[in-house]
Amino acid sequence: MCKPQHYGINYSINPWMDVNNGADYNKSIQQWNDLEAKIKELGATVKLVEPAEDLPDMVFTANAALILKNGNAIVSHFAHKERAKEEEHFTKWFVDNGYKVHHTSIIFEGAGDALFFGDILIGGHGFRSDVTFYEEISISYATVRLVDPYFYHLDTCFCPLEGTDYMIWPGAFDGITNQFFKLLKGNEISVPENEARQFACNAVRIGRNVILPEGCPVTMQMLCDKGYIPHPLDMSEYIKSGGACKCLTLVI
Ligand code: ARG
Repeated sequence: MCKPQHYGINYSINPWMDVNNGADYNKSIQQWNDLEAKIKELGATVKLVEPAEDLPDMVFTANAALILKNGNAIVSHFAHKERAKEEEHFTKWFVDNGYKVHHTSIIFEGAGDALFFGDILIGGHGFRSDVTFYEEISISYATVRLVDPYFYHLDTCFCPLEGTDYMIWPGAFDGITNQFFKLLKGNEISVPENEARQFACNAVRIGRNVILPEGCPVTMQMLCDKGYIPHPLDMSEYIKSGGACKCLTLVI
């Protein structure tokens, strides 16, 4: 995770971001602290990357890299110039922490767009990652196409849970992708549209615990019905930037 002292809505690179609707500084610190505390309370360890003054979106560490087995990390190559300088900061962290670091010249935004479902990498494309990135890597993958600019990263509308369980907002994908998800034969939790827009799918799973933004009662009930324990948190200041719980973390 990356502490939010330099976080803010300083530019707009997705439809959620409005420079005239800035984040409340104190609230954003509080919400981030509550998320970190909840993650620790549920038994996970948190490592921190140093924030940089001119990089307000560096808090969204999901976009730092794609983490593979055996300590390999493919560092992201951001779609927008506003975030490009994050690459050197994240690279330094991975090098300092002993990762085998790989770079790509193809636009790719890390674990914001690429999520493992079992052993298959589900690779989102359409807004922030180029589909050809996935052809470069030598692991099993399936690409899924995002079509709604409000759901511009895969982790805004798809969340693998335990085993073959997953949460999804089908409206964010094209028709072929929706057919693909049906063929996966997983246990689908299809979240309602209003809760998808509250970032219900942008959740952090720790064992059977699921940390998700508050304001998603239907999703919480569906999670409970499948034996999960939902933990709602206020994420209002990060939703203004097009992110929530999951975007603020990277599983390493
Ligand atoms: N403002 C950030 C951006 O537009 C939000 C990133 C959210 N990250 C994510 N993994 N969905 O890039």
